[in-house]
Amino acid sequence: MRAAVTTRKGNPNVIEIQERSIPVPEKGWVLIKVKAFGLNRSELFTRQGHSPNVLFPRIQGIECVGVVENDPSGKLIKGQQVAAIMGGMGRNYDGGYAEYVIVPEEIIFPFKSSLPWQILGAIPEMFQTVSGSLQEALEVSSKDILLIRGGTSSIGMLSCQLAKNIGATVIATTRNANKTESLLKNGADHVVIDQGSVKDAVRELFPHGIDKVLELIGTRTLKDSLQCIKPKGMVCMTGILGNEWSMKEFTPMGDIPSLGRLTVYMGEAANLNHKRLQEFIDLVDKGMINLNVDRVFTLDEIVKAHTYMEDNLAKGKLVVIL
Ligand SMILES: NC(=O)c1ccc[n+]([C@@H]2O[C@H](COP(=O)([O-])OP(=O)(O)OC[C@H]3O[C@@H](n4cnc5c(N)ncnc54)[C@H](OP(=O)(O)O)[C@@H]3O)[C@@H](O)[C@H]2O)c1
Repeated sequence: MRAAVTTRKGNPNVIEIQERSIPVPEKGWVLIKVKAFGLNRSELFTRQGHSPNVLFPRIQGIECVGVVENDPSGKLIKGQQVAAIMGGMGRNYDGGYAEYVIVPEEIIFPFKSSLPWQILGAIPEMFQTVSGSLQEALEVSSKDILLIRGGTSSIGMLSCQLAKNIGATVIATTRNANKTESLLKNGADHVVIDQGSVKDAVRELFPHGIDKVLELIGTRTLKDSLQCIKPKGMVCMTGILGNEWSMKEFTPMGDIPSLGRLTVYMGEAANLNHKRLQEFIDLVDKGMINLNVDRVFTLDEIVKAHTYMEDNLAKGKLVVIL
């Protein structure tokens, strides 16, 4: 089989297309013929060498969609459409950047859809992250005013649509005023231009503060996001687009307003629910959700795809098809 192998840590050119043997699944593992996979920022960090537990060479890819080729347990039939995410895939063992992958059955989600693979490939990790952040961590409801910090990211754009489906009022941020129209088209009720602080602009719109914040920029803007919430409001940090993993100073009594709540979301396969995934795929099929897929690459173009993501050129999800 052909596989994109990250040979060592470094720039996108460390990824090489190589011939590998098709892996053979033991009981409890399933061989999937990969049809597509989404690209993720965490894969970029891993390739750069920021995941100390990942040893190279490694076939990366924390998610994929495809069809079952061989399930030794006999539970899944050959040809069944499946998604697989996380569970150490592409990190502790070889992942989805290949024509075939073996994964443990716990991280496999069967589904049925006639959507093209390039659309299906965008779904698993993005949906897991968005539904986990909004529904499990923030418990967003129709009464909530939600701020999405990093609103133009693919996670941000999908979060806006899901939050609007729930009935919430959404404020989305971008650093780039030229992206205002696309955020409004995506469903945002308000757009705020983020030059490092948005608390005044948010308080101008909602003087008593807002209910929930989905923080996708991370530690750089977290304190400012906390200043936007009303008492008992909640901030969930899910992303680190600002590339800073920790804060030099944090004073809980002061940085968190009284009665404010701060949480994080670090999704795993266990946070994805079979039924919710199928319902979501059906919503996409009916045209009720737009996934904002920016570009589709082939496996041979993997270096180009990683470069495009690293250069921050993506205006939505990037997908690779096989
Ligand atoms: N916790 C989890 O389980 C989980 C799972 C998946 C992803 N994530 C995280 O979620 C975040 C979003 O991922 P994504 O794939 O949706 O991102 P993406 O689509 O690649 O986001 C691109 C956008 O991010 C903004 N951005 C880039 N660098 C920035 C910076 N230094 N400061 C502020 N904004 C910046 C830009 O928006 P503007 O130019 O419009 O400002 C850009 O258009 C990432 O941090 C990712 O690691 C978390």
